[in-house]
Amino acid sequence: MRLAVIGTGHVGLVTCATLGALGHEVTGVDQDKDKIAALQGGQIPFFEAGLKELVAEMTAAGRLRFTNDIGDAVKDAQAVFLCVGTPPRASGEANLIAVERAARSAARHMTAGSVMVEKSTVPSGTARRLSRTLRLERRGLPGDVRVASNPEFLREGTGVQDSLDPDRVLVGAESEETFAVMRRVYAPLIKQGAKLIETDIATAEISKHACNAFLALKISYINAIARLCELADADVDAVAAVMGSDPRIGDSFLSAGLGYGGYCFPKDIQAFARFAAALGYDFSLLHEVERINEEAVDAALNKVRDALWNVDDKRVALLGLAFKGGTDDTRFSPALKLAERLIADGAEVRGYDPQAADNAVHEVPDLKIADSIQDCVADADCVVVATDWLEFKELDLVALRDLVSYPIIVDARNLLDAQAVSAAGFSYYPMGKRSFQPALPADGMNTPV
Ligand code: UGA
Repeated sequence: MRLAVIGTGHVGLVTCATLGALGHEVTGVDQDKDKIAALQGGQIPFFEAGLKELVAEMTAAGRLRFTNDIGDAVKDAQAVFLCVGTPPRASGEANLIAVERAARSAARHMTAGSVMVEKSTVPSGTARRLSRTLRLERRGLPGDVRVASNPEFLREGTGVQDSLDPDRVLVGAESEETFAVMRRVYAPLIKQGAKLIETDIATAEISKHACNAFLALKISYINAIARLCELADADVDAVAAVMGSDPRIGDSFLSAGLGYGGYCFPKDIQAFARFAAALGYDFSLLHEVERINEEAVDAALNKVRDALWNVDDKRVALLGLAFKGGTDDTRFSPALKLAERLIADGAEVRGYDPQAADNAVHEVPDLKIADSIQDCVADADCVVVATDWLEFKELDLVALRDLVSYPIIVDARNLLDAQAVSAAGFSYYPMGKRSFQPALPADGMNTPV
């Protein structure tokens, strides 16, 4: 099939490459001329495992091309995927202006009978608006363009894999013809066993927000349990293991730590709450999810304060700046929130991240950036593990011990092995479980580090 993808951000570009991999002929279009020139030259503007290779492969195979010309991109397409940004307004509501503009500029170029597919995360009711906008823009043209909702469930860092091997494909539509087009788009995935779920459009739209909000709720739940474990001298990871062994609960998204960040959960929770409020429903549970999420950063900050006594002028080494491991994305990163709070407390914060340093310093200019873990921790008064990168899990703690000024680790992601940390002689402050300090020579005062 001929397909077009409007918007070549994270979701758009992964969609372009993976629809190409399903055997379609895809044109990616973006109004950003520099971005399109870079993509035409084989450059990918962000880090996503396997994406650069797949884009190159699909481009070489003639199944993917990029353009600035929206008319050219959509004119013969049987489906046009809307992957433009829906950033939060100051109120938390999703800003849908890019969705509207993209639909308006594509409308008159689209072929009658083709489908405009909402992939961007939008509040329920957007498809109805889109449909009306398309009809208005196409006045006088023969034949209709239909609308479908097809929310993505891909995660940053594993987006290619999630798109090529999804658990489910969700399609919301209002006519059998539209479902038929979407079944053809995803035929290879359905054949390989992905569950196809077909619903009306409002249900598909609301399901996307419902899924993200529920995952965020799980994270906040386990972080609340972490606070309780700290007070009751229990171990949150052990509690999560008990909970996760019940298949009704499931063992994923129960890692306590710094809380959720990224460009999806924080904005989606707010947008979902605003959407509910606009309909007259007070979804106050979501506000509590957000509050507990903020509390997780406070908890980590308090551990650094506790460990350092006075934070002023102390050197804090921040291992990890991205909102999670496997990505260079620092948007709404809890690691950066922590960095800002520590800097405000007077600390000198030096950060290291395998991918996200450039983005981080852009967001927090007072953050000092190190080129390596060693450079980051050199002479540090406290090391904070803030992102769950594999390379931090595999740290040589004995070597680390020789580099720092004071052997203190705040493990804000519960990533390290407590026994190994103890054996290397560190004071250790994990989240939701007991902290410990190595024994010091007796001074008669029994003071901790
Ligand atoms: C999330 C969803 O997982 C995807 O299904 C969805 O498609 C996507 O949003 C989206 O709406 O586009 P993503 O933002 O890439 O994907 O990140 P996740 O892997 O879900 O992690 C979100 C945040 O939660 C990260 O900051 C992560 O560190 C944190 N997290 C995750 C925890 O703190 N604990 C956990 O147990 C799991």
